[in-house]
Amino acid sequence: MTFYANRDRYGRRSCFTELIGIRRLGGQTDERYVVSVQPSPTITYRGFIPSDTDDLVALWEACGLTRTWINSHDEIAIKAAEDPEGLMVAVASGNDQPAQIVGSIMAGYDGHRGWINYLGVHPNWQRQGIARELMRHAEAYLRTRGAPKINLQVRRGNDAVLAFYDQIGYVDDDVIGLGKRLEPEPDA
Ligand SMILES: CC(C)(COP(=O)(O)OP(=O)(O)OC[C@H]1O[C@@H](n2cnc3c(N)ncnc32)[C@H](O)[C@@H]1OP(=O)(O)O)[C@@H](O)C(=O)NCCC(=O)NCCS
Repeated sequence: MTFYANRDRYGRRSCFTELIGIRRLGGQTDERYVVSVQPSPTITYRGFIPSDTDDLVALWEACGLTRTWINSHDEIAIKAAEDPEGLMVAVASGNDQPAQIVGSIMAGYDGHRGWINYLGVHPNWQRQGIARELMRHAEAYLRTRGAPKINLQVRRGNDAVLAFYDQIGYVDDDVIGLGKRLEPEPDA
């Protein structure tokens, strides 16, 4: 029995297939003879649970979202204690693989605006609509909290992320982002 991996338009394996016959049409394989026998992984979106912590930190590291001077475990614990519903994960399961956290988002309402942090999708799972779906869940959550608008920050020059947000309707607010550290500089 021969198994082949279907590939989507980005070249990723999308499902496993069994080749049950080949018919030559002008020297080419007739794709109708290839049938799917195992479905693509399922992506589930759910709230964070404490046992996710280590996998979530690993995801943030893979996405380049961690900083040496920030303790991710502490941030997760604080968010989980104060606003657990605002921390959501995307979990891939199926194909006899253990369930794996492949995406995350942290949404919060400060009484005036909704904010988004820690949006990340594992590099192996990007461009499959996972971030778009995470944002949809975060927006719905912030709506239930009463937030009339969402603000978020993107590092200058991060054109890929800007392209993503542009796709889902976020526009440049034409403001200057300011910041002030309330702790000593990390390298001090
Ligand atoms: C930004 C990020 C979350 C997008 O996740 P994703 O799951 O790949 O995004 P989606 O598949 O939902 O993308 C939806 C659309 O946004 C646009 N888009 C997404 N990533 C893009 C990229 N790298 N370049 C250009 N457009 C992009 C595309 O139009 C895409 O639709 P398409 O794939 O049909 O063309 C992901 O690239 C990531 O985790 N980056 C590293 C962490 C990070 O920088 N997070 C943001 C902090 S501000």
